[in-house]
Amino acid sequence: MVYYFITGTSSGIGLALTQQLLGQKDAYVIGYSRRNAINHSRYKHIEVDFSQPGSAREVEIPEYRNAKHIVLINNAGILGDVKPIGKIDNELLEKTFMVNTISPAILTNRLLSAYLPISDSIIVINISSGAARHAVESWSGYCASKAAIDMFSMVLHAEQQLIDNRKVRVISVAPGIVDTPMQDSVRQVDPSYFPQSERFHQYKQKGLLAPSEQVAKKIVELIGNPPNDPIIDLRTI
Ligand SMILES: NC(=O)c1ccc[n+]([C@@H]2O[C@H](COP(=O)([O-])OP(=O)(O)OC[C@H]3O[C@@H](n4cnc5c(N)ncnc54)[C@H](OP(=O)(O)O)[C@@H]3O)[C@@H](O)[C@H]2O)c1
Repeated sequence: MVYYFITGTSSGIGLALTQQLLGQKDAYVIGYSRRNAINHSRYKHIEVDFSQPGSAREVEIPEYRNAKHIVLINNAGILGDVKPIGKIDNELLEKTFMVNTISPAILTNRLLSAYLPISDSIIVINISSGAARHAVESWSGYCASKAAIDMFSMVLHAEQQLIDNRKVRVISVAPGIVDTPMQDSVRQVDPSYFPQSERFHQYKQKGLLAPSEQVAKKIVELIGNPPNDPIIDLRTI
């Protein structure tokens, strides 16, 4: 059995990923989000709000003593408040880093601590963004919180290069522009706060958004054949 710990399983990419993985008979998925959308004999849902301080420290990480192969997919993410710096809601800014950076970092730390001594392989997939790698006006919290998870992944990758029989692989994946509720929320932002608003409306109108099922399929393929480079843009593969 391969044990998949996936955050943000209730919609978009995380939901599509979970549905595809549950199609594999040797997959067991532990999913984390505030809502649950999946009912399956090999799915365990854990309700959690990662925007709350302490949530990632305290949330249950079930320990399966027979688990030889573990995959953690830090997928839960929020766009946060889309406004120029100086006008951002401070509470939302804090929540953006809680969900996009602090929770995935703590979950990775806890999962490695629990499973390194007993498992043969651990793959960590952090769902990043193209916005981690170039600046988007009014997305400072989102861009910076995703850039931080890219660097967290690069440090874990560098640490693993020092280990002869390394068990851990890590990939920080920018999924492209994907047709999910997050993109719906991008198009709902007041254009007076968001200079690139029209570009995102055009993506939808011109049918340029990738379906979440297609993106999930590519991520499943990455898990099966993890690349050496820890920073990946799914649009290039
Ligand atoms: N869609 C895109 O174009 C795009 C592009 C680049 C990167 N990404 C990244 O892809 C990932 C998935 O996004 P998506 O597009 O699939 O968005 P989505 O449909 O909005 O899904 C986000 C998921 O994260 C969970 N989540 C959000 N806030 C949470 C919280 N406070 N606590 C626990 N779970 C929380 C949601 O569950 P609940 O609401 O039930 O808690 C939901 O399952 C994100 O990391 C996003 O940044 C998306």
